Amino acid sequence: MILGIRFKFHYIAGFFFIALVTTALYLTGDNGRIIKQQNIQKEHKKEQTLEERTAQNGPIQGCDLFSGRWVFDNITYPLYEEGQCSFMLRDYACEKYGRKDFKYQNWRWQPHGCELPRFNATALLEKIRGKKLVFVGDSLNKNQWTSMLCLIESSISPYTSKSVTQNGNLFTFQATEYNATIGFYWSPLLVESNCDDPETHRVRDRIFSVTSIEKHAIHWNDADILVFDSFMWWLEPTMRILWGSIGSPDGIYKRVEMRLRRFEMALNTWSNWLEININRTKTKLFFMSLSPYHFYAESWDEKKNCYNETEPVFKEDYWGISTERDMMHVAESALEKLETRGIKFQYLNITHLSDYRKDAHPSIYRRFQEPPSEVQLKDPTSYSDCVHWCLPGVPDIWNQILYSYVMNS
Ligand SMILES: *[C@@H]1O[C@H](CO)[C@@H](O)[C@H](O)[C@H]1NC(C)=O
Ligand SMILES: *[C@@H]1O[C@H](CO)[C@@H](O)[C@H](O)[C@H]1NC(C)=O
Ligand SMILES: *[C@@H]1O[C@H](CO)[C@@H](O)[C@H](O)[C@H]1NC(C)=O
Ligand SMILES: *[C@@H]1O[C@H](CO)[C@@H](O)[C@H](O)[C@H]1NC(C)=O
Ligand SMILES: *[C@@H]1O[C@H](CO)[C@@H](O)[C@H](O)[C@H]1NC(C)=O
Ligand SMILES: *[C@@H]1O[C@H](CO)[C@@H](O)[C@H](O)[C@H]1NC(C)=O
Repeated sequence: MILGIRFKFHYIAGFFFIALVTTALYLTGDNGRIIKQQNIQKEHKKEQTLEERTAQNGPIQGCDLFSGRWVFDNITYPLYEEGQCSFMLRDYACEKYGRKDFKYQNWRWQPHGCELPRFNATALLEKIRGKKLVFVGDSLNKNQWTSMLCLIESSISPYTSKSVTQNGNLFTFQATEYNATIGFYWSPLLVESNCDDPETHRVRDRIFSVTSIEKHAIHWNDADILVFDSFMWWLEPTMRILWGSIGSPDGIYKRVEMRLRRFEMALNTWSNWLEININRTKTKLFFMSLSPYHFYAESWDEKKNCYNETEPVFKEDYWGISTERDMMHVAESALEKLETRGIKFQYLNITHLSDYRKDAHPSIYRRFQEPPSEVQLKDPTSYSDCVHWCLPGVPDIWNQILYSYVMNS
């Protein structure tokens, strides 16, 4: 609740029963009452058919979308076919690269106490008509952007003109009829860094600037909706901090370990930019909580990683050890500070729900920049990608959540 994550009761969705409406009217957001409301919802939910459930549009009030469970649902999911998405990237095309089990495509996220609104591409494009939505960050945000394009393409008229163009670090999708733009901007550390090349960025000795973000920010500053993420790229044991701009001859460098501190420093630079430059009445801001990876099978089997995993984790309170809550807290406190400075973020807390999905990574079923060696091929776990997510898959759920917030705004 600290970040205003839960929905406010702006109005009451029509599909609930009168009894619930009366209950909801006196809800003020304290936990006891929310639980009470959820119970009432649950009772009525039993009577709903699948069709009623999936036919709902729009936002859900008073419900924590991030707390719930995965339910097998091969009727509603996947929301699109991998092979029919013309925007699919080879990094996420698990089916194309040989994955033979497809259950990972069939899981619906079921929040406790409400339903995730159905993604309606037309409604979204109408909502952002004449507007610009930009995802800013690393390849996980690119994963989500790609999912968004697939979700949209699969449900709008094939005759709607749409295209993706690239200009430097900015990839721009345009649905011309709606005059709507959905972009992805590559800047994995948010601030300027030596990892900023959108194609070639495999840098071990990472350098980031704590004074410079403008080179990036001028490309997304005018957006109406911004969705940020940043996490994975901070996990190097050491990195170099730069006071100055990347490539400038008089910069001052310092090599540091202090993982939390350097993340915090970069987020400060980013926050300062936002405070001065963002148009508070125009731009809606989102921050994705960290996307968990599954390199260590800590609680399901110690000798494995995501390779060969075909089922989610079902243990309700499961948190992976890779889920670095101290890193999350750094981001969360940066957002809280921004709020006190008048910049309001929606924090999309997707970490826990994604944590269950050890089955949903590409593992070996993707295109690799460098083909695996003979030795690696003998042990598939040694080169498995347990970071990104197959599409269709988990990022579709993130987008459904983002969708419900955007539609509600
Ligand atoms: C994010 O969600 C998890 C699981 O629902 C919860 O435990 C955690 O407190 C949430 N974090 C924030 C900042 O709301
Ligand atoms: C859905 O899953 C059930 C249970 O695994 C299976 O019997 C059924 O054939 C599946 N349906 C489709 C459309 O794949
Ligand atoms: C999707 O949204 C459009 C525009 O708001 C609406 O006309 C249409 O009925 C919606 N489709 C579904 C399946 O709800
Ligand atoms: C399209 O949207 C942009 C803002 O993103 C606006 O400046 C432009 O006038 C719009 N064009 C049309 C034809 O509506
Ligand atoms: C901020 O955006 C609003 C709404 O689009 C606009 O009316 C206003 O002029 C903008 N303010 C600045 C300082 O650009
Ligand atoms: C992968 O799973 C299959 C079926 O469960 C099993 O036969 C095989 O040994 C597993 N391979 C590895 C490398 O774990």
